[in-house]
Amino acid sequence: MHIQLLLLVGVALLLSVLQLCNCSNISQYTKCSKNFECGNEAYSYPFWGGERPFYCGENVFELGCRNSHTEIKMYDATYIVLNISKADQIMTIVRSDVRDIGLGSSQCPSAFLNDSLATSYKHDYVPQDTFAYGSGTRELTLFYGCPFVVLYNSGGFRCEDQVNSTRINLYLQAESGPREENLNTSKCQGSILIPVRPSSAHRSSIDILADGFDVKYYDRYYSLCVNCTESGGSCGASENRDNSFHCYCHDGTSQRTCPPPGTYIHSVS
Ligand SMILES: *[C@@H]1O[C@H](CO)[C@@H](O)[C@H](O)[C@H]1NC(C)=O
Ligand SMILES: *[C@@H]1O[C@H](CO)[C@@H](O)[C@H](O)[C@H]1NC(C)=O
Ligand SMILES: *[C@@H]1O[C@H](CO)[C@@H](O)[C@H](O)[C@H]1NC(C)=O
Ligand SMILES: *[C@@H]1O[C@H](CO)[C@@H](O)[C@H](O)[C@H]1NC(C)=O
Ligand SMILES: *[C@@H]1O[C@H](CO)[C@@H](O)[C@H](O)[C@H]1NC(C)=O
Ligand SMILES: *[C@@H]1O[C@H](CO)[C@@H](O)[C@H](O)[C@H]1NC(C)=O
Repeated sequence: MHIQLLLLVGVALLLSVLQLCNCSNISQYTKCSKNFECGNEAYSYPFWGGERPFYCGENVFELGCRNSHTEIKMYDATYIVLNISKADQIMTIVRSDVRDIGLGSSQCPSAFLNDSLATSYKHDYVPQDTFAYGSGTRELTLFYGCPFVVLYNSGGFRCEDQVNSTRINLYLQAESGPREENLNTSKCQGSILIPVRPSSAHRSSIDILADGFDVKYYDRYYSLCVNCTESGGSCGASENRDNSFHCYCHDGTSQRTCPPPGTYIHSVS
């Protein structure tokens, strides 16, 4: 008798749950619940890439993974992502060839290139507000092909040209502090601008280059995502790439926030 009653209630409950469950978006929920993973790093919305399909993030925030390093494309360059503070919407990035110089690679980069943020940042075509230098970012000048040798602690370095194996003298000009006198940098072959963190700018050895620089990115749905996550959903975007926000819920719906678990049970009793 009791068992039959329980069964009946159980079936009724199940049916009502099934009816309310429009399970069309369950795979979005599952996929967007996964982090992007690379090396020891794990990132979620607004980032996508790897196991996270494009509808789990915003278009511009695609991440890649190479040699256990997270990478992001910004304008025409690819950067290694050193870390991301989602709450502050700041990421610390570095171009891999610049990082190699900072880590003391004996080989010169295949070409000395200006940082695209240092230069294209000043152009109009860059989507406004998406990426900007973190506050206090400095642009140091790295001279290459110089006819003089500078001590390492004063910003000097040598690397080997990849084509003809000649030694190339580099000189990173610090903004202040010990500055080499009598160096005529216009005798160097050329120079590039490298953004550095403000705390690094006054140091005068080339290893500061490996620390990268901070970029402020604009995650316009940040607080929507906080609310979505707190309600048990996973943040994502529309599948038609219109850059709108979707909160995918475990029951397959997609709304601003997800209903608290147990809602359906309560509505039955
Ligand atoms: C990234 O890591 C460096 C070094 O650990 C730290 O100083 C910096 O504040 C971090 N940046 C962010 C955005 O968390
Ligand atoms: C080696 O190549 C660099 C540029 O690739 C050039 O500036 C330099 O003059 C070359 N050196 C010799 C000895 O050919
Ligand atoms: C530095 O070198 C440039 C090019 O060789 C030369 O025109 C200039 O006079 C030099 N400046 C000084 C202060 O020696
Ligand atoms: C990098 O940019 C600076 C400033 O715009 C310029 O003086 C320099 O020639 C550029 N270097 C290269 C290699 O394009
Ligand atoms: C997030 O939730 C809080 C508290 O419910 C609410 O005040 C806020 O407006 C929500 N944020 C957005 C962007 O909807
Ligand atoms: C499923 O997600 C799409 C967006 O990708 C949304 O337009 C649709 O309304 C969602 N379906 C349900 C039942 O929430």
